[in-house]
Amino acid sequence: MLRMSFRTIIEPFRIHSVEPLRMTTEADRQQAVRTAGYNLFSLRSQDVLIDLLTDSGTGAMSRDQWAGIQHGDESYAGSPSWFRFLESVQDLFPFKHVIPTHQGRAAEKILFTAVAGPGKAVPNNTHFDTTRANVEFTGAEAVDLVAAGGGDPSALPAFGGNMDIERLDAFLRGRPGSVPVVFVTVTNNSHGGQPVSLANLRDVRAVCDRHGVPLFLDACRFAENAWFIRERESGQQSREVRDIVREMASLADGMTMSAKKDGLANIGGWLAMNDDELAATCRNLLILTEGFPTYGGLAGRDLEAIAQGLEEVVQHDYLRYRIRSTGYLGEALVRLGVPIVQPPGGHAVYIDARSLLPHIPPLRYPGQALAVALYETGGIRSCEVGTVMFGRQSDGSEQPAEADLVRLAIPRRTYTQSHMDYVIEVCGEVSTRAAELPGYRIVEEPPMLRHFTARFAPIGGDDEPPAITLDR
Ligand SMILES: Cc1ncc(COP(=O)(O)O)c(C=O)c1O
Repeated sequence: MLRMSFRTIIEPFRIHSVEPLRMTTEADRQQAVRTAGYNLFSLRSQDVLIDLLTDSGTGAMSRDQWAGIQHGDESYAGSPSWFRFLESVQDLFPFKHVIPTHQGRAAEKILFTAVAGPGKAVPNNTHFDTTRANVEFTGAEAVDLVAAGGGDPSALPAFGGNMDIERLDAFLRGRPGSVPVVFVTVTNNSHGGQPVSLANLRDVRAVCDRHGVPLFLDACRFAENAWFIRERESGQQSREVRDIVREMASLADGMTMSAKKDGLANIGGWLAMNDDELAATCRNLLILTEGFPTYGGLAGRDLEAIAQGLEEVVQHDYLRYRIRSTGYLGEALVRLGVPIVQPPGGHAVYIDARSLLPHIPPLRYPGQALAVALYETGGIRSCEVGTVMFGRQSDGSEQPAEADLVRLAIPRRTYTQSHMDYVIEVCGEVSTRAAELPGYRIVEEPPMLRHFTARFAPIGGDDEPPAITLDR
């Protein structure tokens, strides 16, 4: 244990194998992003210096995870790797049935195929995009009930991810028999990566019990959430994170999980539950779409990597470093006058591009403008979470999103403090030139999920082609 009197929290690992970063010039990057239609998803990752596009599946595995990969047993049924995975999952989440999937959305697809459908509704604190899409794909309604106060990007409380208990109660009262499951997402990714308190989970449980509705966790970032509980919730400071996680699990009837986050793996996920009948239905769907129940969508080696990842992710030294490094980036940006969603979340810092670039109206995409500038200036790839992502309405019209944010998501155990210092310097430099950044227009877009493939042109730039109108 480190003496806590030292201010510097070091990475609790040393580097064992290295992956080179390809250095590029600003001119190289201007060319690359222009060729990519100013869409950072369309860049070749080799042209990116610091990749903060997502924290999902992009982390570094440990020596022991790579060793686990060598131990992977690829037997079709009943492999020892499956039993190691099952034991690790049930140690933290003692649900009776564990169903392995290739990633989180496959677990969602199976569960909602089994329980949702037309006329049904699924409340969540805030649905992640794939969760919402999988609910809606069945014909059901996905309803966000995040607690009030969480909607203001500049004033988030200690547990800004919480569910609004009164609205949940009223919702369940108003829709008897039509809610197959209530979900709570920990941490609340689509809401600034903010955590959910144990007290809130207990209250959600009580409401669910009153209405006889099961409660599931979308547990992608369960360990980060548990660390926030330990740090911020009264009476939790001397607890082991493992025990907090077990208490979170004990309040739920099941879970969906993407092991690409707090599984510390590059692929994987699972669905778990106590209900025997539901588990049998889900296993049948698993066999149709993913694979046999003792490997699901995964190779034996992947099951080993996840099993080991689950041992490592609840270690306090790891979580202290992980959450501190996100806070370090956020606090430094605030000191430089860069507006961010406060307080920083567990896995990401969100820059408020609408405040930083007030000269760019939302329909000229301030988030896209900032994301492109961070890439051109310093090779940093981030993700617009704003009007590009959410502005196109189902009737074809376009409206400003609630906020125009740029997400800097931090891959786990991948970048060092000097990488983060570089990111801070680049953000500071770009913010001093904020007033000069151009807005963008979309010149080509698909009918759905346009942020992945749309092409843009800078307003007033020499390569601004005429807009293309697409049939919808
Ligand atoms: C909260 C949340 N739920 C579900 C998912 C889906 O997981 P996957 O990407 O493994 O399909 C994600 C992925 O980012 C997520 O953040």
